[in-house]
Amino acid sequence: MSWVAGKLAIIGWPVSHSRSPLIHNYWLAAQGLPPLYEAYPIDPKDDFRAALRGMADAGFVGANVTVPHKEAAFAAMDALSPAAQILGAVNTISFENGRLQGDNTDGDGFLAGLDAASQRGAPDGNWQNAPALVLGAGGAARAIIAALGRAGIDDIRLVNRTRDKAEALSGLAPHITIEDWQDRAALADGCGLLVNTTSLGMTGQPPLEMPLDGLKSGALVSDIVYTPLHTPLLRAAQAGGYIAVDGLGMLLHQAALSFEIWTGMRPHIDNKLRALLVTDLAEKD
Ligand code: ATR
Repeated sequence: MSWVAGKLAIIGWPVSHSRSPLIHNYWLAAQGLPPLYEAYPIDPKDDFRAALRGMADAGFVGANVTVPHKEAAFAAMDALSPAAQILGAVNTISFENGRLQGDNTDGDGFLAGLDAASQRGAPDGNWQNAPALVLGAGGAARAIIAALGRAGIDDIRLVNRTRDKAEALSGLAPHITIEDWQDRAALADGCGLLVNTTSLGMTGQPPLEMPLDGLKSGALVSDIVYTPLHTPLLRAAQAGGYIAVDGLGMLLHQAALSFEIWTGMRPHIDNKLRALLVTDLAEKD
C-alpha cells in the first residue's frame, strides 16, 4: 500500500515534553520523508471538535492523542475500533476525507513491549501461563487490563489505593479479582507479570514499596513510566533476576502501531532509536 504523505501530530496539553515527534520523525526519515510529525497543543478550554476540524483543513492525516484529551477524542470520532470502544478512549486518530476514525494502540503496544522484552530475557519467562498483578487503576491501567484479558491471562489481580476505582475496571477482562492495596506483597505470589501503573517511583513522587520475592522465576516486571527510565522497582527486578520492562517498551510499540495505522508500514524499533530516546530523556528530565 502506498501512503499519501501528510502532516501528523501528537495532541495534548501540555505536549511540548512528548517524545512522539522524535519517534515518528525518525521512522519518517527512514522512509526518506521530511519531519511531518509535530506537537499540537489543544487547550482543554477550547472546542475539541472544532480544533480537529481545523487540523483536517490544515492537511493533517493522522494524530496521536495524549492527556487530557483521550476521552474527548473518543466522543468526537465518526467511527471507532473495538479497542477504542472498550476503553472509551482514543490515542490514534485518522483523518479520512473529513471522517474521523479513532483507534487505541496503548494496550496492544503494552503487550508488544512485553513480548519484545521476554524474547530478550530468560527462556522460562513465560508470563502468559501465570497470574498477573497490576498496581493502579488510572487510564493506563484500563488499557493494560483489557490487553491482558485479550492475551488470555486467566488470573488478573488488580489493586489500587482507592479500591472503588479498581472495582470500576473489573468489566474490562474476564478473569479479574480486585484486592486490597495493602495485600499486594502476598498477591505477587506465583505471578509471571507485575505491572506498576501508579505514579509511585516517578521523579518527584514517593517510592513504590513492593517486595518481589514471591514472583515466579523469570517473571516480567514492568514499570510504565519513563521518568526515570530505571525506576527503583526495575532496579530491584534486575537485582532479583527478573526481566525488567521499562516504560520505553510501551511508548515505542504503541507508537509503531499508530504509525502502521496511518501509513500501512510497520516501522522498525531499532537500538539507535532507543538510544536517541535514552539520551533525550537524560538531557531533559
Ligand atoms: P494514569 O492515567 O497515567 O494511569 P492516574 O489516573 O493519575 O494516571 O493514576 C495514577 C495512579 O497512581 C492511580 O492508580 C493512583 O491511585 P488512586 O486511584 O488511589 O489515586 C496511584 N497513586 C498515586 N499516588 C499514590 C500513592 N501515594 N499510593 C498509592 N497509589 C498512588
